[in-house]
Amino acid sequence: MSQEKQQTPCTYVIFGATGNLARLKLIPALYHLEVSGHLPEGTRIVGIGRRDWSLDFWLSQVREMVQHKARNGLDEAVFQRFAQRLHYFQGNLENPDMYRNLQHYLETQQCPTHHAYYLSVSPALFGTTVQLLGQTGAFNQDLGWRRVVIEKPFGYDLQSAKALHHRISHYLQEDQIYRIDHYLGKGTIRNLLVFRFANVMLEPLWNRNYIDHVQITHSETLTVGSRAAYYDTAGALRDMIQSHLLQVLTLVAMEAPASMEAEALRDEKVKVLRSIRKIPLSAVHGQAYRAQYGGGVINGKAVKAYLDEDNVPSDSVTETYAALKLYIDNWRWAGVPFYLRTGKALAKGQSMVSICFKNPPKQFFHSQQLQQMHPNWVLIGIQPSDCLKMEITVKQAGLQMFTRQTSLDASLHADNEAKIDAYEELLLDIIEGDRSLFLRYDEVENAWRVIEPVLHTWAIERDYIPSYPAGSWGPKGSSRLFEQETQFWRHSMQPEYRQD
Ligand code: BG6
Repeated sequence: MSQEKQQTPCTYVIFGATGNLARLKLIPALYHLEVSGHLPEGTRIVGIGRRDWSLDFWLSQVREMVQHKARNGLDEAVFQRFAQRLHYFQGNLENPDMYRNLQHYLETQQCPTHHAYYLSVSPALFGTTVQLLGQTGAFNQDLGWRRVVIEKPFGYDLQSAKALHHRISHYLQEDQIYRIDHYLGKGTIRNLLVFRFANVMLEPLWNRNYIDHVQITHSETLTVGSRAAYYDTAGALRDMIQSHLLQVLTLVAMEAPASMEAEALRDEKVKVLRSIRKIPLSAVHGQAYRAQYGGGVINGKAVKAYLDEDNVPSDSVTETYAALKLYIDNWRWAGVPFYLRTGKALAKGQSMVSICFKNPPKQFFHSQQLQQMHPNWVLIGIQPSDCLKMEITVKQAGLQMFTRQTSLDASLHADNEAKIDAYEELLLDIIEGDRSLFLRYDEVENAWRVIEPVLHTWAIERDYIPSYPAGSWGPKGSSRLFEQETQFWRHSMQPEYRQD
């Protein structure tokens, strides 16, 4: 995001290079950066894995990863250029010798001395990996910058996040740590900042006087599938809300920062998190709802219940759906509920922010149409459509005074247009030293604070969890979070009225 781009060659060291994230996201994103000419000349990419693979075998694996994901198919000439940058280093992350050997290898291979270490490994290994890297002097910046990229989840709860922070801070300065939340690399999320701060007409309306409530939704048709071992220990609240959805909330709600520089932006985001009203333990049931998917049908295919997935204990009460009502106690937002929800195995895969405005103060056309006028909505589609719509009321053609909803469309992309993956933007930001779209520690800590009372309550209440049929829009019970009869979950970007 920053304007001062540094085009210095560096060494990208990927721990967990043979794992899922690297296969599906990191390697394809680096390849796409090669395609678009964004990888600085001389940059090398060192994949670290446990398996004893030759470089040739690694290249064949990378070819496969790229073939699956390349937006316009694999370009052989580009791939050959990309392959020149690749190395494979075999090692066990828990073995201290590996880190000494790695430093030696990087030196003897004359890899660039700016290093970015990407921890695409189990969160349980974040602390150990940083400690062992630190003890070999890998973070000494005498010869070049040294940065570490840490995937989510940063900690398992407030306590463990603090402990991890304490442990890694011994070896790293805050400005060397890039806590990644890939949601912040999505096109619409960046557009949200432009939408809010480059358009003067919105600002007077963006507050408690005009906005009735805000919804932030991330729904998936995917089930937990092969990720159950991780997911069952996490659940939807930790997996999606603590990180991605709370980050989106900060961008919707924050004040204009002093500049778009990292610290200014993050100062404003953290103020929002700090202003979120603490959920008292006695109010958890009124402000949070969880459920788990049962069997059902998604896109015509039968789907088994969560409890029947491999690696899920038969008595698991891990939530695959979570919804939360939050209040931001500041001048702009006092009294406006923010509803967040996410779920797996739902009817549709989409992420959107829906902002519902208040009704006009007087229902002038009430008698003609014999029904309540509909409020305006601003809809920000994050995926699959990268779009921005404003819904307004217009008169229908004809002699009678009937109205309908229509939307003003300021979309970024056509639905079928290939989009840049969030990881491309973020991987580039790391080598350019731009931390504005990465999380500062106080953001992470305050996000854990927000959900802590809910985690605590759900961890104790282990007897029962409501269920919802796979392929549905989730449990009906979650509607009880709404403050008013007129509020309802918004499932679609199309002008619509109540659907549930
Ligand atoms: C990840 C979660 O962080 O985000 C996954 O661990 C989730 O459970 C994913 O599916 C959603 O991100 P995206 O970009 O695939 O919508």
